[in-house]
Formats: sequence, C-alpha cells, structure tokens
Amino acid sequence: MTDHVILGQPATDPAGAACRGCHGLDRREFLERTLLAAAAGFLAGCATAGPTVASLTPVTLHLANYPALANVGGIAVIDNGNSSGVPWAVARTGAATFVALSLVCPHRGGTVQSLGTSFMCPVHGALFSSNGTWTGGQPTSSLGRYTVQYDAVAGTLAVS
Ligand code: FES
Repeated sequence: MTDHVILGQPATDPAGAACRGCHGLDRREFLERTLLAAAAGFLAGCATAGPTVASLTPVTLHLANYPALANVGGIAVIDNGNSSGVPWAVARTGAATFVALSLVCPHRGGTVQSLGTSFMCPVHGALFSSNGTWTGGQPTSSLGRYTVQYDAVAGTLAVS
C-alpha cells in the first residue's frame, strides 16, 4: 500500500509500477500544504486593509458648540454638517491642534464608538487613542483622518 495521494489520479498505478516522475504529495505533505494555505488565507483576511476614508462634505465647526473640545484629549462625535452620512469625530490633541477622524473602522467597516478619551470598535474590539492611533484589540490600522484648519481667532475648525 502506498501512502502517496496523487490529486486527480488513483492512489496506485493501475499497472502496479512505481510512479516514475510523478510529483504527487504524500498524505502528510498534502495536509501540511493545505493547512498552511488555509492559515495564510486567514491571516491575509485579518490583515486586509479596511475601507478607505470616505470623502467628507467640507464643514466649518464653531468650537464653542462642542464643549468636549475645550480640553486637550476631548472628543466630539460630529452628527451634523455632514451630508455624506459618514460617521466622524474631532479630537483636541493640543492647545491649538485637532484631528478629524473617520469613525469607519479600518478593519471591516464597523462604526467606531467614542469612549470619551479614546475609541473602540464594538464589532471585533479594535481600540484607538484619542488621536486615532490603533492601540490594541483587533489588529488593524489607525483611524483615517481628514484635513483640518484651526482658526484660533474665529474659534472655528474647517474640516474637509
Ligand atoms: S470591524 Fe473589526 S474591529 Fe472594527
């Protein structure tokens, strides 16, 4: 009895001769290759980049309307001024610096939630800092960013 499995052919040569020049795999090689291919496919799926940052309808926010942004580290989820329907948020990263972040999870497109001073995706548990950097949980990239322009005199933040 042979322990070779030749895909698409009988396990033994009908003439009973040795398989000359065949490139069949034995059972162990077949299983190893199959498992490696499945593992590679799984890992590729985990590492697949999520959706790109959707475009945002440009908007100018009056920061006085968002008390959470008065202090560094504060986060405001923006639910107006965006006709595209894409969830996003603004975080204050410094005295005069802000980031505008897409809340579409870069892993598989879940809607990321604010935890007050950080973010979490409830779908698979990815965690992000207040500036959108991935910090733990489900491996993925950081949150997508939009362009911001802060006008300290006017107290506005233009986001596009
Ligand atoms: S969709 Fe998987 S962690 Fe967000």
